[in-house]
Amino acid sequence: MTRIGTDLQYAKELLQKNELVAIPTETVYGLAANGLNADAVLKIYEAKNRPSFNPLILHTDSIANAKKLVSYFSPLATRLAESFMPGPLTLVLPKAAIVPDIVTAGLDTVGIRIPRHPLTLQLLSMLDFPLAAPSANPSGYVSATTPAHVAAQLGNQLTYILDGGICEIGIESTIVKVEDDSLTILRQGGIAMETIAQVAGKNIRLHQPASGAKPESPGMLLTHYAPKTPMVVGSIAENAKKYVGKKTGVLWFQTPNVKVEAEREMVLSPSGNLHEAARNLFSYLRLMDAAELEIILAEPAPDTGLGVAINDRLCRAGI
Ligand code: TXA
Ligand code: MG
Repeated sequence: MTRIGTDLQYAKELLQKNELVAIPTETVYGLAANGLNADAVLKIYEAKNRPSFNPLILHTDSIANAKKLVSYFSPLATRLAESFMPGPLTLVLPKAAIVPDIVTAGLDTVGIRIPRHPLTLQLLSMLDFPLAAPSANPSGYVSATTPAHVAAQLGNQLTYILDGGICEIGIESTIVKVEDDSLTILRQGGIAMETIAQVAGKNIRLHQPASGAKPESPGMLLTHYAPKTPMVVGSIAENAKKYVGKKTGVLWFQTPNVKVEAEREMVLSPSGNLHEAARNLFSYLRLMDAAELEIILAEPAPDTGLGVAINDRLCRAGI
């Protein structure tokens, strides 16, 4: 059985023995292991049932330590790191030789992130290696934003979950690839693209692979964040007409002004606040999934700021 607690010393000892520990971050919980040890990293892929072509992010506690994992940290990367780290940003940069190939799934780049969570920052400062950590959920399922979420599905696979409470942001980091002087967003996330563009002082390319093409962020190939119950994203009032007679759950973005027949009804943010909606998203999807419904109908958020990342997650979860 897995234990849940705040014993940093115990977490450190497990990680030093190349065991897995779940860690809190401001975005979602991570399933962490020694990122410089290939045997430890292999355990992450096994526990999550993650395809071997999908690389992991390395977590560290300072820009100085991040630089040791990268062969070239350009001035543009430094500017972004100084503005947004610690925080929900992952930079994809050319990897240093000390990073094992299993971390990057054979790519010559590595994702680097400094999480903005006091407990995890303290743990990282006690370790002399970075932590490889994907989101702490079985591959393809909804990410975890509480220790209970992690325990529910990965409880048999790990000894310890470091309890940092409910994740403040609730949606994964924004992933930006930095090449020379150009920036490409590989995944929308906790920092809006406009905010990054402003600091970078330039336009950012959004990587949208044509269907069937190989994406630059290999994980984006997969159905992601998906509850087991089929989910349809769009106008709830319209879609409800198509599923009359089914056991339906509806997930509103904000308090609706129309009435729809449903078994289960939830509102991501009654006042329509994007931050609140992001924080509730994965919890509410899990609750809907546990309610034994036949169909979930969800309404998209406004397509600005964090709403872009919320809609990305909803669409990937949808059918
Ligand atoms: O907020 C987050 O980023 C969380 C917390 C735990 O830090 N982590 C997270 O990890 O979401 P994961 O493994 O669930 O998603 C990481 C994504 C994957 O889609 C992967 O393909 C992509 O990052 N990725 C990692 N390294 C990459 C690289 N070198 N080049 C392109 N994409 C990369
Ligand atoms: Mg994930």
